[in-house]
Amino acid sequence: MTFTTKLDQHGKRLNRKLDELLSSHGLGRGVPARLSEAVRYAALSGGKRFRPLLVIESAALFGVSPDAAMPAAAAIECVHCYSLSHDDLPAMDDDDIRRGKPTVHIAFDEATAILAGDSLLTLAFEILAAPSTHSEPSVRVALIEGLGRAAGWAGMTGGQMLDLQAQELQPTKAEIERLQAMKTGALIQFSCEAGAIIGQASPAERKALKTYGAVLGRAFQISDDLLDAEGSAETVGKSTGKDDRQGKATLVGLLGIDQARSYLMALEDEAKAALSCFGERAETLIDAARFVIHRQR
Ligand code: IPE
Ligand code: IPE
Ligand code: MG
Ligand code: MG
Ligand code: MG
Repeated sequence: MTFTTKLDQHGKRLNRKLDELLSSHGLGRGVPARLSEAVRYAALSGGKRFRPLLVIESAALFGVSPDAAMPAAAAIECVHCYSLSHDDLPAMDDDDIRRGKPTVHIAFDEATAILAGDSLLTLAFEILAAPSTHSEPSVRVALIEGLGRAAGWAGMTGGQMLDLQAQELQPTKAEIERLQAMKTGALIQFSCEAGAIIGQASPAERKALKTYGAVLGRAFQISDDLLDAEGSAETVGKSTGKDDRQGKATLVGLLGIDQARSYLMALEDEAKAALSCFGERAETLIDAARFVIHRQR
């Protein structure tokens, strides 16, 4: 099976799980209809579902079934969808198109997009805390702690702050890498680590997945920035050419397209090396790194 077929298959299962979780956590609890609609719009309107794949495939290294990894995968995707809803707001990147559709604040309004994001962020922790996510309470606590750290001020929101501040500055390569590791890398890295947590992996195996996740996170944002610079809006499902117009600090802006691409290509070997302790079992995760490096969407 090709990697993209696997990504699509996991994505379909994830969509079903997410739909089910949104219903079971929303129905009959007095959730305002408009907020429920906006949350479903933010969470169920496409997307590659790449982070869930990382959770599922990392957990599979330890014999965990996709179904058993699915609640944690869905929780992480909720945080991702929240981050997109807020990232697109006029006060942040001010984007009108996401996943080929109007962004949440365009389809609804700004306040609703903020509240939908807040709802998805908090729902993620409610999902992780539920006994159906894992029978072992210590595993659930480790997931909650890890996701909180990855999504918070020392992770994604901190990185988003640096991303906004950097528009006024001329950050160095190291500064750009730091902000990208926080805004994008932290959640991608935690998606890999979550698989190790669910699979109750050894500390060495968990560390290997964290190293792999960090490399993948770096690669993911560079490829996102390359797609912004030269991708087609139809295939990527969002406006392109915006980073340059908004003066975003990216490696593409600093190094130029060609150098940024060779830098990105070199990360494939780094990703592979990080997974060496898993041998052939890590084939899909190696394919995931290749996908990120060459992706068109
Ligand atoms: C876009 O993430 C935002 C970044 C962190 C670069 P994705 O490229 O995973 O977006 P979707 O989920 O597929 O829409
Ligand atoms: C997104 O980075 C980082 C997030 C935490 C959402 P971008 O701002 O480059 O992502 P896109 O291009 O809007 O998807
Ligand atoms: Mg942004
Ligand atoms: Mg953006
Ligand atoms: Mg971008």
